[in-house]
Amino acid sequence: MNVKIREQEYADAPAVHSLLMRTFGDDDEARLMERLQEEEADRISFVALAEDKIVGQILFSPVSFDNDIDSYALALAPLAVLPQYQGQGIGSKLVRRGLDQAIVFHYALVFVLGDPGYFHRFGFDTAAKHNYFCEYDVPDENFMVNFLRLKPSTQFPTVISYSPAFNNFAD
Ligand SMILES: CC(C)(COP(=O)(O)OP(=O)(O)OC[C@H]1O[C@@H](n2cnc3c(N)ncnc32)[C@H](O)[C@@H]1OP(=O)(O)O)[C@@H](O)C(=O)NCCC(=O)NCCS
Repeated sequence: MNVKIREQEYADAPAVHSLLMRTFGDDDEARLMERLQEEEADRISFVALAEDKIVGQILFSPVSFDNDIDSYALALAPLAVLPQYQGQGIGSKLVRRGLDQAIVFHYALVFVLGDPGYFHRFGFDTAAKHNYFCEYDVPDENFMVNFLRLKPSTQFPTVISYSPAFNNFAD
């Protein structure tokens, strides 16, 4: 199957909304994406096209640190591939394209909250091992970091906060 990855455009919003609803089974992620766009926090977003329709999407938004570490970092969320198109490498293409773009934009770190069985293949590692912790109460193994450049030294535990759009995530 021919799959094309391109930057998400304004006009894609309805198709991406529908994709997120169908992939996640509710509108939490669709509303999250809309809030991120309203906040202009959608720093990087790509869609995957197959058979002339949008079948996947990835978005990265900025995170902040609870100390003075000067780091330029992103969070990856959401990531979705329509159920009938899963397991064909589309999610991997979206993640790799997004990480490449983050490097082009000179970001240093990308965090993700997800399944380590999936994300370790892209170079993500348990963030707690590197002294980075999620603001949310989640198991350490599910919060991961990808060092896009040289590993910054983190002598002190650092808490990572997501964009305000995530605060209302499950409302
Ligand atoms: C997770 C998701 C984006 C992966 O997309 P995809 O196009 O199916 O992924 P790929 O085809 O690139 O990769 C498939 C591989 O990932 C594995 N995989 C898929 N989802 C996984 C998961 N949740 N945990 C562990 N491994 C997973 C598959 O077993 C397969 O492994 P293999 O390459 O060893 O055979 C997709 O399954 C999805 O949209 N899921 C529902 C939404 C979701 O959970 N999003 C992630 C939130 S952070």
